[in-house]
Amino acid sequence: MRQTRPVAWDREFFYDTYPRVEEAFAARLEESLAPRDPSIMLQVVRELDLPPDSRVVDVGCGDGAHAFRLATHFGLRVLGIDPVQRHLDLARAARRDLVPEIASRVSFERGTAAALPAPDASLDLVWCRDVMVHVEHPEDAWAEFARVLRPGGHVVSHQVVATDLLPPDEADWLFDVRGVVPSSADARVVDEAIARSGLEVVDSIDLAGEWGEWSQEHEGAGGRALLHLARLLRDPERYRAEFDDEAYDVMLGDCRWHVHRMSGGLAGRLDVLRRPRRG
Ligand SMILES: C[S@@+](CC[C@H](N)C(=O)[O-])C[C@H]1O[C@@H](n2cnc3c(N)ncnc32)[C@H](O)[C@@H]1O
Repeated sequence: MRQTRPVAWDREFFYDTYPRVEEAFAARLEESLAPRDPSIMLQVVRELDLPPDSRVVDVGCGDGAHAFRLATHFGLRVLGIDPVQRHLDLARAARRDLVPEIASRVSFERGTAAALPAPDASLDLVWCRDVMVHVEHPEDAWAEFARVLRPGGHVVSHQVVATDLLPPDEADWLFDVRGVVPSSADARVVDEAIARSGLEVVDSIDLAGEWGEWSQEHEGAGGRALLHLARLLRDPERYRAEFDDEAYDVMLGDCRWHVHRMSGGLAGRLDVLRRPRRG
């Protein structure tokens, strides 16, 4: 997304012509543009039409919520991997509350995107949601995905990339505080790393800020992040004193991240890739 120069300011237009359409314009903006939401990833998996018991790795599984969905909706066998012990503990605790039919299909192990605990050509699907920006050498991770997939197996990956609307100073600060590797959030680097992995591009969908729009329309998440940002900026000492400087910075980064997700500085992209049947 690029910033274009505005048309030159014109007093008559600004104070006479524009006010006559302002209300209608604002009313039009109240109409949803029907943004796509995170369920688009499940829709992509549905279209792959994988047989039940197909084998999947959920890379950077967090608390396991998506691994459970993949097992529940499609009967897949899912290995969730994550480098953070707390996430594995949460995922394993949540698994204990599932019906045995689903619980038996899901397991969790420690691992990273560039070192998956799976043999060569053993998996039908790599699912990776909102993880790749944290990966130090994305080319190693994409190559690792190619290694573990059987020929004809797929990757379904969502990640955020920076756009030209994210000022460089803001990107520096934001990426530092959120553990984002700048090159991993650079669309060109991502494209090159995918090309080098040997995976075929089935689809690459530019979701821009659609997930942010959707969560604002349904949960008010973006608006709340903006309000929290205003409070954090107006009275930092209040929050620093109660939660400490590090937690303050993380929360500030979280709010700024969500605002950029809606205002165009960060864009979602969904990559659907396939390991070629030969080669
Ligand atoms: C934003 S969370 C996303 C969690 C989950 N995929 C989701 O969409 O809800 C990022 C996750 O990636 C994990 N992570 C961070 N670095 C990683 C790496 N190098 N390889 C795999 N996972 C990583 C974190 O521990 C965390 O669980």
